[in-house]
Amino acid sequence: MIIAIDGPAAAGKGTLARRLAEALGFDYLDTGLIYRAVGMKAERTGWPPEAAALALTPSDLDGADLRGDEAAQAASKVAAIPEVRAALLEFQRAFAANPPGGKGAVLDGRDIGTVVCPQADLKLFVTASLEKRVERRVKELQQRGLEVIQTEVFAQMKERDERDSQRAVAPLVAANDARVLDTSDLDADQAFALAFELVRT
Ligand code: DC
Repeated sequence: MIIAIDGPAAAGKGTLARRLAEALGFDYLDTGLIYRAVGMKAERTGWPPEAAALALTPSDLDGADLRGDEAAQAASKVAAIPEVRAALLEFQRAFAANPPGGKGAVLDGRDIGTVVCPQADLKLFVTASLEKRVERRVKELQQRGLEVIQTEVFAQMKERDERDSQRAVAPLVAANDARVLDTSDLDADQAFALAFELVRT
């Protein structure tokens, strides 16, 4: 079984994907982390992003800097390059088809339901208003002890939403057969309960 979870940044898809995978005993793949690793590897080495994607190793996914906003912006930029997406496609499909645990896979990203796994058994498009997503990201960064300027977080998230939605290849869009889950007024437990219900029906 394959569960595809897509949506914009900070809508709650990572938390939801992780919890669903745990509850079902499935393996989880955070595809945004892969794009983040490619973006940071390209910056670090000076290589063209497609070369960084082709040379990606598992240790590149361990970088402590991958969770920050610099990595997010770098990821969003390299993710618009068709050759980068092509280089990463097979790995993601192979993971979905043959998850390490053998039971099932939950993948989250922007194009899982539309491009990576169009045959997924369940597709969720997890979204929330820009204001709510900014609020959550600000809280998350503050909890990590970082100094945050709310207007900067807002501008960066808006820029990333636009770049991810408007690119020519595999843009951020809900698949026709995706169930839309708006988490603007839901906490993580409520979002999980709704999604789990969809899995079971
Ligand atoms: O999910 P995230 O915020 O970690 O993703 C970082 C960036 O990577 C996102 O802005 C766009 C890109 N991305 C993508 O294009 N396709 C995916 N499947 C996952 C992420």
